Amino acid sequence: MPAVLGNEGGFVLGDVRAHGAFKFCSIEGRRRDERGEQLRPTGLASVRPDQCSEQIKTLVDVDRPMDEGVASLPLMQRAHIDSAPRVPYNYYMLRPVGLASDPDDIQDPEPTAESDTGGSRDPIHPINTPQLRPTELMPQREDNGLRALSVFSGGGGLDLGFDRAGYQHAASYEILTNAAATLTNARPDWEVHGGQDGDIAAVDWRSWRGEVDIVHGGPPCQPFSIAGRQAGADDLRDMWSALVDCLLAVRPRAFVAENVPALASEKFKGYVRRRILGPLRPHYHVETLLLRAEAFGVPQARRRMVLVGFARAADAARFAPPAATHLRGDAGTVENAGLRHCMGVREALGLPDIRYDTLSPTIRSGLTGPHHTTSILNSAAAARTFARLQVWPNGVAATRERARAFVPENRHFRLSVPDVAVLQGFPEDWPLAGAIYMQLGQLGNAVPPPMAYAVAAAVAAALG
Ligand SMILES: C[S@@+](CC[C@H](N)C(=O)[O-])C[C@H]1O[C@@H](n2cnc3c(N)ncnc32)[C@H](O)[C@@H]1O
Repeated sequence: MPAVLGNEGGFVLGDVRAHGAFKFCSIEGRRRDERGEQLRPTGLASVRPDQCSEQIKTLVDVDRPMDEGVASLPLMQRAHIDSAPRVPYNYYMLRPVGLASDPDDIQDPEPTAESDTGGSRDPIHPINTPQLRPTELMPQREDNGLRALSVFSGGGGLDLGFDRAGYQHAASYEILTNAAATLTNARPDWEVHGGQDGDIAAVDWRSWRGEVDIVHGGPPCQPFSIAGRQAGADDLRDMWSALVDCLLAVRPRAFVAENVPALASEKFKGYVRRRILGPLRPHYHVETLLLRAEAFGVPQARRRMVLVGFARAADAARFAPPAATHLRGDAGTVENAGLRHCMGVREALGLPDIRYDTLSPTIRSGLTGPHHTTSILNSAAAARTFARLQVWPNGVAATRERARAFVPENRHFRLSVPDVAVLQGFPEDWPLAGAIYMQLGQLGNAVPPPMAYAVAAAVAAALG
């Protein structure tokens, strides 16, 4: 039976017997539009043969090796046609019948000596102890008496920042069940709506009117990202209107909405005017911020566009955008600026000094790019930076122990999920749910929590 994952899932079908497991090919099941958009392969997940149903086995040629996702594409298209439910989402995941648990639980292949890089099993480094503790970048503030409603919550970047800034959490809405599970794991007492229940397009927001002071959320950024086709409103994943509808129904005192910086570019000026500011400006004073993660101590080159809106002119007038707290530069420059030093990747992760360190390249979202992989790599330039850092950004392992055990061929440091969490400004023990690619996707989709914290604190100061 196919299971709807919302708009960031994929088909999972089997192929290739490898390392005692089937590697499963995950395919982006983008809904065909009038132009007959084609399906694209997106990456791999795995499941043991004994968990694999007869139905799936007959769909794939288990004896024929394939390059990631390519060889069996026609098969997947057939499965799509046979199996895709007619529901208004862009992606689907085909549940391998016989898997007892949720399809989100399908596990990624273990990195092995043979997989992705070759390499040996003799560990070359001790288990690292990060020097950066992201919670220290966002000291817990006292309850500020403001209630926040979170939409498009993902794995909780904005939620965590607002939480640490002293807001009370009213509820979170997120369509991916794994991401919603992360929030519930992290804050069991929170009201979290996940899966179909968390679909913000299906909620009647009027019941929230007068109940919250602020709404925050980051609609999917793929329609605008330079990593994609930048189809904007023509992209079926564009959800800004749903956020605008929510704001107009709830009418909070303030809102914070984030996205990729490309949304602030000339290309989308008309879109922003028509679809976002046009409907909101009669009710809100809106300011656009462009923020850098490193300015808040996050060791990553990552920029976000943030819209901040206030219902009352007096609150808007009091609002001061968050000032940088950190700087990446030499000691003298940092001291002269009166700021704190922003660590580089190696220092943040507690790796030995190699006389070179710098910010991590932007961590990709494993859920939004063309592949559902366990790589955080975004570009060829990013690959060069990681190589200079002697950090291996592919085949991210679930734990530090596993990362240490599977040495890449080039003998660079293999990242683990907790390491990537630190590079994104999350506590290393943030309880991410799902397979590795799903955990990385939640991290890669997120606003770095220290950046969210700075915005949340600035908004709280304006609301008084
Ligand atoms: C850019 S991410 C948000 C990241 C989040 N702000 C954070 O800081 O961690 C967008 C999220 O919107 C979710 N989403 C997409 N369509 C949705 C819908 N119809 N209802 C609720 N959530 C949706 C995606 O699953 C994804 O987690």
